[in-house]
Amino acid sequence: MLNCTKSFFGLRGCVSAARQILIPKISGRVFRFYARPEILAKPNILQTVGIYSDTNGKIPGWRSAVEMIWQRRNEEKMKNKLEQIREKAISQLNNCDTADKLNEIRVSILGKKGELTDLLKSMRDVPPQERPKVGQMVNETRAEIEKFLEERRTKIERAVREAKMAAEVIDVTLPAKKAELGHRHPDTIVLEEVERIFVGMGYEVVEGPEVEKDYYNFEALNIPADHPAKDEQDTFYITGDILLRTQTSGVQVHEMEKGKLPIRMIAPGRVFRSDEVDATHSPCFHQIEGLVIDRHITFADLKGTLAEFARELFGAETKVKFRPHHFPFTEPSAEMDVTCFKCGGKGCRFCKGSGWIEILGCGMVHPHVLEMSGIDPEEYTGFAFGVGLERITLLKYEIDDMRLLYENDIRFLKQF
Ligand code: DAH
Repeated sequence: MLNCTKSFFGLRGCVSAARQILIPKISGRVFRFYARPEILAKPNILQTVGIYSDTNGKIPGWRSAVEMIWQRRNEEKMKNKLEQIREKAISQLNNCDTADKLNEIRVSILGKKGELTDLLKSMRDVPPQERPKVGQMVNETRAEIEKFLEERRTKIERAVREAKMAAEVIDVTLPAKKAELGHRHPDTIVLEEVERIFVGMGYEVVEGPEVEKDYYNFEALNIPADHPAKDEQDTFYITGDILLRTQTSGVQVHEMEKGKLPIRMIAPGRVFRSDEVDATHSPCFHQIEGLVIDRHITFADLKGTLAEFARELFGAETKVKFRPHHFPFTEPSAEMDVTCFKCGGKGCRFCKGSGWIEILGCGMVHPHVLEMSGIDPEEYTGFAFGVGLERITLLKYEIDDMRLLYENDIRFLKQF
């Protein structure tokens, strides 16, 4: 069966008596093709011919003939095209002086829609046997352009670097910029000192949540819903039941609920109250809670411990005094004063003439509070205390306005 595969227009051949078309002009050889029947009907007529091949490849030489025809006509064309692309690329690159332009040129030639890439795509029209050769030609051009591109890139980068260096002359005689170091906050210094003192006495340092349930902040500390102490500690409510804690005393409850006895802990942390800012008030400040629970703990343990604490913090000469007071979660309760470290107790402006300064609240843990947290008050007793961190910091460093502690002025902080 004969089957039409391709027409080569412009090739003129002559149909021989042997029903073949003779095309004499390809590489000086005569190629023989079988011709279409209507051509065969007019033998010896020179004309444009269409070439037939049989699908079974029964006509040897047809394939190579087609390829040679392609080769002759297109190899030159391809070479020229490649040469054109190469020359255009080189001249564009020679005139290019920025990295951006360089990239544009690269994309226009080697990019997805670049000229060379287009040419590579046209490879499908190249007969399979010619492809390696043509492919090699394209690749050689590509490699050449890439090499040129790289050289150009290096040149541009060097020029940019040199221009930058020329523009940024460094005056090595200028004084260096000082890196401003921060400073430990006086609150931090005092807190670390307090922790050191209590850890030295065998206490653990624990933390509790700042967002707290009403139960832990009030109820479990013997402050029921209608207790006046709740008014004194008005705070920020998140829901009717969840609030920003007004005191660190709730951490006592968390620790007791863990069920591990004995307890010797301090719990420093942030607390909140809806107070106006002034020299002695802030809506957010810090407390350090203390709790000891064991068998046979008495008020004497409380006094001894807190007296030792005061001596370590304010100096060996410091004396303490306990005044009766009321806290709902301790019984009995007291406030502890220390001798004024400015006048040694004689009385001065600092202690308002009394010789004493109040520093903390304390007391024996109320049996009801122990019970609510699952501890048997018949077997265990304990004491608790609460110190305002800012209060002792202001006292220790003789700072007369609490607001200074919150302004973070490095000139202020550096003094401690
Ligand atoms: N939570 C109290 C307050 O904020 C301070 C306090 C007093 C804590 C006596 C205690 C304590 O643990 O026993 O005013």
